[in-house]
Amino acid sequence: MKFLIRGGKKLLGGVVVPGAKNAATKMMVASLLTAEPVVLKNFPRIGDTEITQELCELLGAKVDFLEKNICQLQTLEIKNHQALTLSRKNRIPILALGPLLSRVGRAEVPALGGDKIGHRPVDLHVRALTLMGAEIEVTENSYRATAPNGLRGANIKLDFPSVGATENIILAAVLAKGTTVISNAAVEPEILDLIKLLQKMGAIIELGADRVITICGVLKLHGATHTILPDRNEVVSFACLAVATDGKIFVRGAKQDDLITFLNALRKVGGDYTVDDDGIWFFRAGELKATEIETDSHPGFMTDWQQPFMVLLTQANGVSFIHETIYEDRLGYTKDLNKMGAEITVFPKCLGELKCRFNGMGFNHSAVITGPTRLKGAELEVRDLRSGMVDIIAALVAPGESVISNIEEIERGYEDIEGKLRGLGAEIVRV
Ligand code: EPU
Repeated sequence: MKFLIRGGKKLLGGVVVPGAKNAATKMMVASLLTAEPVVLKNFPRIGDTEITQELCELLGAKVDFLEKNICQLQTLEIKNHQALTLSRKNRIPILALGPLLSRVGRAEVPALGGDKIGHRPVDLHVRALTLMGAEIEVTENSYRATAPNGLRGANIKLDFPSVGATENIILAAVLAKGTTVISNAAVEPEILDLIKLLQKMGAIIELGADRVITICGVLKLHGATHTILPDRNEVVSFACLAVATDGKIFVRGAKQDDLITFLNALRKVGGDYTVDDDGIWFFRAGELKATEIETDSHPGFMTDWQQPFMVLLTQANGVSFIHETIYEDRLGYTKDLNKMGAEITVFPKCLGELKCRFNGMGFNHSAVITGPTRLKGAELEVRDLRSGMVDIIAALVAPGESVISNIEEIERGYEDIEGKLRGLGAEIVRV
């Protein structure tokens, strides 16, 4: 499938953001921890939740949609402790290790492998679960785990505040014997939302100062109903789209609390916003100005935001910098922007002040952007979810026609992107 886009128009109007992909998928896995129903409202109907639904069903869950965006999952019993026959894959199955070990004492999930944004190892997950009593065999294609004496609480210090490792530990610890303390934990809003769901299910989880999360294991969890927090990444995509096309877009559901760092960066670059009770308006304040961005763990500037922000920087006056400190290889998509007329050069040197794990390692993780440049339409192939959204935004900025292939990647994370864009006045068709 491809999108054919004719760009160069200001986009105007409103969109509604659904629940966050990166919370919904984890909550679906959390539902495996109980035999009772878990109801998720504001549920995003996207590729990644479909893939996770297949995972949950394979393990024994019954998944029903009470309404289009209300999903109920119930796993009366774990029918299968292996999830090796999934037809499509994402990075979620490794999070099922804890729930499976808690409920049936064994688990086998597919190996994840690297992808187009970096190597993405899961060593922190494996080390943490091992400290909690899991015995994990890493085979060529899978992680095979047992917990001969059950999972038990442990003190775990993460070398890096990994989102996935933090979630994996929490999901394993809620039903483990004793107390688990995670130091240097990730505290992204999506993780806090997962914690809120687990609390409703009967878990005891404390949030301390300085990235410490303490989980006191309980014997049993029960069902719950939860409304998933809005997708911050989708909000940022539409905010950048509004400013990049010099349009004005109201993003219903956008919450200021989770976007503070982004909103500051947007204003520095020359974008602006007004916050309403039920959403945020995004628009341009004047000429866009060069700025410097460094990605970081929450509450820093999120790695998933640098790609749409990059399009703004191609339209900003002067020389801008982006220093990506979360993934070593998340700037490959700048080649697409250069093909469209942008002037972006990538460097292995850290062009910023944050402590960075990639210093001196030779990964091209810093970018220098000279602007403004006039973008022109091009033929592009989507590399990964977030950079796919960049291809769309850039194509909507560029006068002329662009053809974007491999759009299934974008649909893993954005619900009805085509309909939403058309509603804003974009010329986009699927071919
Ligand atoms: N890392 C390790 N070892 C580990 C785990 C992580 O070295 O055991 C490294 C990774 O290689 C990476 C960094 O730590 O360099 C960050 O990884 P993290 O575990 O925090 O990320 P993740 O859980 O794999 C989630 C989101 C990503 C988002 C990141 C950072 C999901 C499904 N994915 O990934 O979202 O960029 O957190 O916030 O929640 C996306 O939505 O497009 C996406 C990639």
